[in-house]
Amino acid sequence: MKNWLYQVFIHQTTKECYQGSLSYMTQGSHLLDVGIGNGLMLETFGPLIKSKGLKITGIDIDAGYLKHCKELIRKHQLEDYIDVCQGSAESYTSGQQGCFDFVLFSMSFMVLRDPRSVLDRARSWLKPGGEIVFVQALFKRRSRLVDLIKPKLKYLTTVDFGRATYEKDFFDLLSENGLTVREDRVLKGEWLNSQCRMIVASFRDTPLPSASPRDRGPSAIKVRSAREGLCPVAIKAVSQQATPPSGLRR
Ligand SMILES: C[S@@+](CC[C@H](N)C(=O)[O-])C[C@H]1O[C@@H](n2cnc3c(N)ncnc32)[C@H](O)[C@@H]1O
Repeated sequence: MKNWLYQVFIHQTTKECYQGSLSYMTQGSHLLDVGIGNGLMLETFGPLIKSKGLKITGIDIDAGYLKHCKELIRKHQLEDYIDVCQGSAESYTSGQQGCFDFVLFSMSFMVLRDPRSVLDRARSWLKPGGEIVFVQALFKRRSRLVDLIKPKLKYLTTVDFGRATYEKDFFDLLSENGLTVREDRVLKGEWLNSQCRMIVASFRDTPLPSASPRDRGPSAIKVRSAREGLCPVAIKAVSQQATPPSGLRR
């Protein structure tokens, strides 16, 4: 029942989130999917995961979702590509220090109890030059209604959508934790004054462009809409960051 409701309420959004994030991942990368959920995205992206040779470690606190996820892994013969385990982001330790090219939070960052401490932990999960990919709804303007409704959606849908995340708070949090935004893309348009965005960030003090999982050359932040046009709102959000302009270049 819970998986069915999940399918009804967020299957389409899940597809769009993983379309954006998995396309961003480079060939052969190893990623930690924090809050992988019931793995519905595997129905669509199994072939992409195989063709890119991605290695995915998924963690989630919900045993029911993970059971469903494991069934889909078997159904799509993805055992060589995906491994899942039950656990929380707040306590997860990778067996090996710094073994992931990417840490992905697809609609899971805003449900974490203590996002700041998780960002701190993520540093040790990443290889040097690794990147954190956030996919989530960002709200532009504060709204009491949104603050009230969003956390309560779980009682209606069983899916925890967490609290509303405001653009400025989010970018401030990244900056305070030593992260620099590398890419900011709008994946989906407006809903109640929010946009579903993919934001890629890396730790400012991590070494060397050459150690990065992808070689994007001298890069300023790229801010693009779903149609690859420039997105003025997102540009504004990025320009509000505390990170100095020199921090945008590798
Ligand atoms: C909205 S769902 C997103 C699932 C999937 N990533 C997607 O995009 O469809 C959020 C997921 O995060 C998981 N989650 C919540 N708190 C967590 C935590 N502290 N550590 C790991 N996973 C968590 C939930 O169980 C749920 O599966």
